Amino acid sequence: MNDEKYRNSFPLPAESPEKIDKIMLNTYFGAQKFYLLKTALELRIFDYLSDSKTSKDLSSILDLDPVLTELMLKSLYELGIISITSKNGETHYINTFASDNYLKMDSVYSKSPSISASFKGIDKWVNLSEIMNGSKSEVMENVFFPEIIKRMANDCKCWELQKTVEYISKFSEFKSAKKLLDVAGGHGLYAISLGMLNENLNAFVFDLPDVTIETKKFIEKYDAKNVDTIAGNFFKDDFGENFDIIFSSYNPGGKNPKVAKKVYNSLNTGGLFITKQAFPKLTKNMPDTLNNMEWNFNSFNSTGKGSIRYTFEKDLTFEEYISYLEKLGFEVLETKPVYELTEFKEEMFPNIIIVAKKIN
Ligand SMILES: C[S@@+](CC[C@H](N)C(=O)[O-])C[C@H]1O[C@@H](n2cnc3c(N)ncnc32)[C@H](O)[C@@H]1O
Repeated sequence: MNDEKYRNSFPLPAESPEKIDKIMLNTYFGAQKFYLLKTALELRIFDYLSDSKTSKDLSSILDLDPVLTELMLKSLYELGIISITSKNGETHYINTFASDNYLKMDSVYSKSPSISASFKGIDKWVNLSEIMNGSKSEVMENVFFPEIIKRMANDCKCWELQKTVEYISKFSEFKSAKKLLDVAGGHGLYAISLGMLNENLNAFVFDLPDVTIETKKFIEKYDAKNVDTIAGNFFKDDFGENFDIIFSSYNPGGKNPKVAKKVYNSLNTGGLFITKQAFPKLTKNMPDTLNNMEWNFNSFNSTGKGSIRYTFEKDLTFEEYISYLEKLGFEVLETKPVYELTEFKEEMFPNIIIVAKKIN
């Protein structure tokens, strides 16, 4: 026995590596799930699983490795994305309602365009060292917004659009409204739907000139004869006047006092301002910090970003925004986290809807 030689050769560190091992294991597991889903979508697995199939059926249709196909299907089942049935003693896999509705490429509710965009978004993390070294990209807003609103149209019509317009349509002020403005309405689906629910309404979608070109396509698609566009920049241009309802959802002016003042000036007394925006809380939560970091990977060419995700220069916090609305002459009728509006079980984003009435 040579205790001393052993101790000198393998001295025990002061702390075990358990914490580090766990972090590495969990991040690796997250990445495995990410690439599993990415590949399943690329292989269009969910398009094939509208009808139940064995893993053998699927591997022969797609010419895939049979063992890996079976394990991929088992993993998707364990993630709760597909179901298992048994036929003639054989395991068959089939889409759940959610995967059939949201993950098939040709479904009207397909989320694949935004999911594909998030798969692309991870590339920024792959090249993080370059970004950290100062090669931040500048996003041209007149190119970025006309594209992103197509994905947002696709996403919101899956659920949030219906939940929002049904909520708005219950207000008596909406039922009697004649003129509505959707500030930074992008695709215009909110104005289009609200215009369908109140046919006496003339609805206008205000947005950047390059975006309203796209808005017009949506107006035409849904044959929305009572919806039109107003091209402008909410930091520079006025909205017009005599609106009974002004709606606004997720935009760089959504927490800006100057834009709120313009809304106030354009609204009739007794009219409603309904705004749905992200109001990030200052937390010490890990995903928040990572998302704040991602928010800082690039800058906009004309609107200054704040350092926290979804914030811009001169933004007010939720509490400040509410007090500012009251100071302008609004009575705040309701505020509600959007996850309650959409009846989701958990809050995924710090989004809040505010309903305020112009009282003086
Ligand atoms: C994230 S999208 C939201 C679209 C839509 N309101 C929704 O909730 O699905 C942000 C919108 O704000 C618009 N926007 C950004 N800056 C703007 C500005 N300075 N003036 C007018 N609209 C602007 C964009 O063009 C885009 O349509």
